Amino acid sequence: MFQLDLAPADPILGLTETYKADAHPDKINLGVGVYQDATGKTPILKAVTQAEERLLETETGKSYLPIPGVAELATHTQELLFGAGHTIIKEGRAKTAQTPGGTGALRVAADFLLRAAPQATVWISNPSWANHQAIFEAAGHRIEDYRYYDKVSQGLDGEGLMADLERVSEGDVLIIHGCCHNPSGIDLDQTAWEAIAAQARAKNLICLVDFAYQGFDEGLEEDRAGLHVLLNAGLAVLVTSSYSKNFSLYSERIGAITVVEETADDAIKAFSHIQAAIRAIYSSPPAHGGKIVATILGDTSMRALWIQELADMRTRIKEMRQAFAHGMAARQQAIDFDFINHQKGMFSFSGLTQEQVLKLRADNHIYIVGSGRINIAGITPTNVDPLCDAIARVI
Ligand code: LMR
Repeated sequence: MFQLDLAPADPILGLTETYKADAHPDKINLGVGVYQDATGKTPILKAVTQAEERLLETETGKSYLPIPGVAELATHTQELLFGAGHTIIKEGRAKTAQTPGGTGALRVAADFLLRAAPQATVWISNPSWANHQAIFEAAGHRIEDYRYYDKVSQGLDGEGLMADLERVSEGDVLIIHGCCHNPSGIDLDQTAWEAIAAQARAKNLICLVDFAYQGFDEGLEEDRAGLHVLLNAGLAVLVTSSYSKNFSLYSERIGAITVVEETADDAIKAFSHIQAAIRAIYSSPPAHGGKIVATILGDTSMRALWIQELADMRTRIKEMRQAFAHGMAARQQAIDFDFINHQKGMFSFSGLTQEQVLKLRADNHIYIVGSGRINIAGITPTNVDPLCDAIARVI
């Protein structure tokens, strides 16, 4: 009936399926952005287990949540984004809805923006998380990209970024990674955040801050510094949060969308359209993940435990980043691998070509995304040496 060719496999999730089908005992998965501990397992955080135990004891029903989800989750999300007692919260200028993961938040944002800014072009960093383009295209948006990563310096292409900001038209949408840029690991510096804020003010741009990794670089407060440059400039922004990574709640699909407006009245109006968009996509969110996060953040001791567990994940990733950079430097003096130490968060843009990535997969059962993005959180004290040996052989 449907005369269709096969759709291309997803560059990230498709790779996980190929990895799972590989029976080799020493295979290494550095593809999908999922945290693994030193033994290669994706942990259930202790704080999450405690919250689930409490929910099991106290939950009284499974009726629908309201369209914006768990009310306490909205309150806690705003505190994570702005800081408790922030003026934006006091003035009621922010509204938050729970969503199925960060991806769900982005799709809601895309549908909302079709209503709020139908003529706008959506600008995405080059490179960006592959799904950004797919989500906004699926919603019917026109997409362009702005320069971001400089292959030569393996750092931010500040000049290219500034030049491309000049090309952005009045009222367009800029998607900005809040921290731990996916896939490059290269974050905007203060100058770049300020330049974006200035352009956004001058051209009434809509900044959408995709904040999937809060807490994975330096800490919950430190990682929101860029977002606060935009907020301090008085800009209205959209923020999409994910709790997949920082709560290790990948399968529960829990995230949030927050709109910050210039007045409380504008926030209420914008939020009514966000709710209408949600109703038309999935009606209301699944409850479990939202209740877990709200329970943890609403309880002093569970919250402290979570903050410690988050710090432990962050520290382990940094240790593996250093071990990887060190391991490569020890094997290959011709290349300076120090750039790996300057990248932030879960990923390293290794500079490996597609050909090298495929060779690593075929010869060594090492799974890396075709762009050369390596999930540092998949490196362990056990696999770091064989990994470095294999990479040194292909470069
Ligand atoms: C990733 O970039 O690997 C993660 O965000 C998972 C995903 O959905 O692509």
